[in-house]
Amino acid sequence: MTTDTTTKGATPGAPAPGETVLDARGVTMRFGGLTAVRNVNLTVNSGEIVGLIGPNGAGKTTFFNCLTGLYIPTEGEVRYKGNILPPKSFKVTAAGIARTFQNIRLFSNMTVLENVLVGRHTRTKEGLWSALLRGPGFHKAEAASRERAMELLEFIGLAGKAEHLARNLPYGEQRKLEIARALASEPGLLLLDEPTAGMNPQETRATEELVFAIRDKGIAVLVIEHDMRFIFNLCDRVAVLVQGEKLVEGDSETVQGDERVIAAYLGEPFEDAPGDEEVAEVEAAEAQAAAQADAVPGKENDR
Ligand SMILES: Nc1ncnc2c1ncn2[C@@H]1O[C@H](COP(=O)(O)OP(=O)(O)OP(=O)(O)O)[C@@H](O)[C@H]1O
Ligand SMILES: [Mg+2]
Repeated sequence: MTTDTTTKGATPGAPAPGETVLDARGVTMRFGGLTAVRNVNLTVNSGEIVGLIGPNGAGKTTFFNCLTGLYIPTEGEVRYKGNILPPKSFKVTAAGIARTFQNIRLFSNMTVLENVLVGRHTRTKEGLWSALLRGPGFHKAEAASRERAMELLEFIGLAGKAEHLARNLPYGEQRKLEIARALASEPGLLLLDEPTAGMNPQETRATEELVFAIRDKGIAVLVIEHDMRFIFNLCDRVAVLVQGEKLVEGDSETVQGDERVIAAYLGEPFEDAPGDEEVAEVEAAEAQAAAQADAVPGKENDR
């Protein structure tokens, strides 16, 4: 496979085919004694849909948090289109990476349209004073934002519910709305953390089509999901995380046929798997981390 990192002539937001959009190198994240992510390398190229799978607690969400500035990796670096990412979530969004969360995060008392408008704030040039004084520049920018937000709602199929309160949407539509809000920041890379969790098979199929459509708009996608049918239908490449480490990476066929992946999912030891002693160590560290996490308000929201 060739990875052409030349960006010459590429227009912003429309990367040249094959350009490396995301380049994570040696990413390690430790919480006290627990290494949740260990030395993970992962690239996503323009035009690609890449899957990230692995058993519960494998470190998938933690890895996403390292990519989006929510966590600063203990070791390693993350580049987006060649530039090292700033260590702040809103700056990462402004740079071009958008995400959805495993636990839906919407403003439940705002309308569907307002939720998408919130997602646009990194792309509106109107400053604080303009917004406060509500001058002509502000109204013009607001009208343009609304138009774009409605376009996005049309794209995901929620335009008819623009004025509904987000909390009144069925669960599957709330997940879609999160995607629309992420798209509102006009990203070059979209990270989806379990986009089909809690969906019925029809909704899952529709989400599959939606992700293909997003890719076709020139947005690269990295997706975490436990639904293997969804992952293997969708992804050009799949990486498997087990106990914080990347165990296997390849196309769907390669990953499905790899015995270590099957063993990891069945909880069986595989070659080079950590021994009982290490497992006990990890479990103890996890218990300690969980106890600490219970004492930290809002920790659940970060996952
Ligand atoms: N903020 C934190 N502090 C301490 N430990 C954490 C923190 N976040 C995650 N962990 C631990 O890191 C490990 C990986 O968790 P993570 O949520 O990344 O897994 P995951 O692969 O997303 O799992 P799931 O499929 O269940 O969502 C777990 O052992 C978890 O308890
Ligand atoms: Mg997770």
